[in-house]
Amino acid sequence: MRLARAAASALLLASTCRATDLLTPEKLEADIKTQELQRVLWSLNKIANDNGGTRAFGTAGYKASVDFVLERAQTRFGKHFNTYLQPFNHTYEQTKSVSLKGPKGETVHVVSPQYNPGTPLPGGITASLINTPVNDTTGSMCFESQWAGIDATGKLALVKRGTCAVADKVKFAKAKGAVGVLLYNQEPGTDYVAPTLGEANIGLLVPVGIIPLEVANAWIPRLAAGEDLRPTLLVDAIVETRESWNIISETKTGDPNKVVMVGAHLDSVQEGPGINDDGSGTAAILEIMGSVKQYDGYLHRIRFGWWGAEESGLIGSLFYTNSLSELEADKIKYYFNFDMIASPNPMFEISHYINSGIGPELLAEYLESNGKNVTYAEFDGRSDYAGFVELGIPTTGLFTGDGAPWDPCYHQACDSLDNINWEAFTVNSKAAARAVGVLANSLEGVPPRQRSTPFLRGRDAMTHNFRRWKALSEHAHGSVSCSHGKKKLTV
Ligand SMILES: *[C@@H]1O[C@H](CO)[C@@H](O)[C@H](O)[C@H]1NC(C)=O
Ligand SMILES: *[C@@H]1O[C@H](CO)[C@@H](O)[C@H](O)[C@H]1NC(C)=O
Ligand SMILES: *[C@@H]1O[C@H](CO)[C@@H](O)[C@H](O)[C@H]1NC(C)=O
Ligand SMILES: [Zn+2]
Repeated sequence: MRLARAAASALLLASTCRATDLLTPEKLEADIKTQELQRVLWSLNKIANDNGGTRAFGTAGYKASVDFVLERAQTRFGKHFNTYLQPFNHTYEQTKSVSLKGPKGETVHVVSPQYNPGTPLPGGITASLINTPVNDTTGSMCFESQWAGIDATGKLALVKRGTCAVADKVKFAKAKGAVGVLLYNQEPGTDYVAPTLGEANIGLLVPVGIIPLEVANAWIPRLAAGEDLRPTLLVDAIVETRESWNIISETKTGDPNKVVMVGAHLDSVQEGPGINDDGSGTAAILEIMGSVKQYDGYLHRIRFGWWGAEESGLIGSLFYTNSLSELEADKIKYYFNFDMIASPNPMFEISHYINSGIGPELLAEYLESNGKNVTYAEFDGRSDYAGFVELGIPTTGLFTGDGAPWDPCYHQACDSLDNINWEAFTVNSKAAARAVGVLANSLEGVPPRQRSTPFLRGRDAMTHNFRRWKALSEHAHGSVSCSHGKKKLTV
């Protein structure tokens, strides 16, 4: 009797809208609106426009992006979420300008490699050019023996590109006293990709300018004839440690020991505003957050992560996962990664690995019921899932493709509001919201974190691979080879 009365009064409460509004996958899905996603991307695009066209690590555009997310997570939604900034440091590098004047003061086409040391400013380096031998079989000036008998003291060394790392050639040149290196391409033309000198070589090199083969071919006979050619190389570069931040925000509701996590990177590349990469993921999880805050009664805690410095080599997310204790890692029951989910000519690719559990199925189910052709790919270490996979946490992700034909504006200034397929963006965001909603209420089909002995061999191999990927994922300036992209060019 008393019980019945209690139930009746609970019903009464519910009918007067005082009771909790239960979170369901359907509600989260329905709350995702194209117009709201548009608003977020419009804001991120404006942030880039107001800050030199970029939201990259180490720039004012990144800070403004952090403030934008905090304004929601911390200020507007503060009643429902606990939010904190996780600071970390990383090397910022940027060639602000590079120029080369030939012996007669003529302008010569020149490209700067990543992590190029700067020359003195404003004059640059003017010095006599010295030619060095070529060996296209073994590589030119790749071995100490090839430098035997060469004295480059106070000179600019003219060296052919290819075969070994550029940084190796430059180290030898420096050891022989060179004040700079003019590296000429093996192929004619000016359409070449800048390599990286590697973060590990900071402080060990001299400034480098990469010039066309045709220019070197014109200078070499003149040097052989004994002419003194004195070009001027100017590199205005910054290489310094800068602070950056991940934003972590989680619901105040749900079991704190059972966390469903969703993540996207908040930084862009220096070359552009990063609206598809990864404004799309950023906006999707912000909108999921805005939906979640309206509901109650779910079993598991929902945690959101906006990662910094992804484009510099997954720096923020790896800092986060490396900082987790075993205990904290165990609490993360699932991680969803959303990086590039609105490519203008999209594929609908679901990334997975051996311990992805039900996640891919949840995403595929919704996409296929909306007429999408889903494809699958094994995780390859090119986005922020890497650290979670490394920890054996069940993980999946959505990806609509980078580079032509999927996203020809990948890592370029044109990755702006015009670079978005709004229909694909909305469907993917809804698929994401729904999957989060399912796991917020039930972990059925979610495997435990995978760190038991039977998998040890695989895990060791994977850890090794991730170290390799991490090493390869340094950003190449002016090229499209970044975290998502092709392997980092060092040669
Ligand atoms: C980042 O570097 C600054 C300056 O060296 C230092 O004060 C700060 O503690 C560093 N932060 C982290 C997270 O290492
Ligand atoms: C290149 O180096 C190899 C190995 O030292 C040598 O055998 C070959 O003769 C060299 N070629 C030229 C063109 O110097
Ligand atoms: C879906 O993919 C299959 C296999 O690649 C292909 O044959 C089919 O044409 C695709 N359908 C659509 C609608 O893209
Ligand atoms: Zn990305």
